[in-house]
Amino acid sequence: MGYHTSPKFSVASMHRSVSREVTKKTFSSPHKIQVTHSMPPHKIEIFKSMENWVEENVLIHLKPVEKYMITEEALPTYQTQINITDGIRDETGASPSSWATWTRAWTAEENRHGDLLNKYLYLSGRVDMKQIEKTIQYLIRAGMDVQMENNPYLLFIYTSFQERATFISHGNTARLANQHGDKSLAQICGIIASDEKRHETAYTKIVEKLFEIDPNGTVLAFADRMRKKITMPGLLMYDGCDDDLFEHFSAVAQRLGVYTAKDYVDNLEFFVERWNVEKLTGLSSEGRKAQDYVCGLAQRLRKLEERAQEKVKQAPTIPFSWIFDREIYQVIYKCKPSMFLYLNFNNHDLISYHFLE
Ligand SMILES: [Fe+2]
Ligand SMILES: [Fe+2]
Repeated sequence: MGYHTSPKFSVASMHRSVSREVTKKTFSSPHKIQVTHSMPPHKIEIFKSMENWVEENVLIHLKPVEKYMITEEALPTYQTQINITDGIRDETGASPSSWATWTRAWTAEENRHGDLLNKYLYLSGRVDMKQIEKTIQYLIRAGMDVQMENNPYLLFIYTSFQERATFISHGNTARLANQHGDKSLAQICGIIASDEKRHETAYTKIVEKLFEIDPNGTVLAFADRMRKKITMPGLLMYDGCDDDLFEHFSAVAQRLGVYTAKDYVDNLEFFVERWNVEKLTGLSSEGRKAQDYVCGLAQRLRKLEERAQEKVKQAPTIPFSWIFDREIYQVIYKCKPSMFLYLNFNNHDLISYHFLE
């Protein structure tokens, strides 16, 4: 790993000309072929027919606006991802459809998370805001490719997992902050965790409904999504120094138990049970294969997870450029959808934290 005293930032190659700070690193996806519109067009009708159901069953999981006391900021990447999805996109930018209404309100809620954390960070006075703001610019420019294929089945399975993952990791961070005496941070993370729980409930209900309407298509999508893995938008994260920055952060998150491979497998088991995947009947032969794959996956991943835990225990302490290459542990903690909280530990003392979008 190479690192320097003055970190530089990098973005995707197409933006290379925008700044002298941009280095040679590119963010080309490991998956070279980008599949688009993988849902058969006739299935768009399914999502149209769910309009009223979404209004009555999903929109109820939004929080009334008055309950928020903080302002908003832009959240372009994730909303773009949803609005390129077939059957649910916001056709006008202000569409009254239930899907679009949900997406805009959900984005607003997530945006407030980012904004709250950003303000907290600013007021803490512990970080270089200029560097943080630069990083936000580059991350948004890089975009993200999580192989969604404009496919709402893939999207809603992914978002169910992500919301549950953030619910768990926010809860863990609240506990950590509490242990280290930062009551405000603990409270912030606790409130955000409860928001993530509502989001998880909403997305999980949508997938449950899809299993009811189209069990075969949904189980195929579930298997497909798991084969593609539930990767994080932060995969494209780069600090201009460490080519494996995201891997290093993930290893530390593992080690300190904020979000681990075990949580990933637990979540998989949770959803297999929640969506009654084992009990699905009347599937095609492909559907049955997908069902077997999904139902047997947790057990296979458990073995990998044990190996990963061993590897993590042996991993060396890694200096991170964000904190001037000091030899400390850093916990990365993902706040949905593209905001990261870093907790910096010297031995077992929390010495600082910062947020990165
Ligand atoms: Fe959320
Ligand atoms: Fe969030």
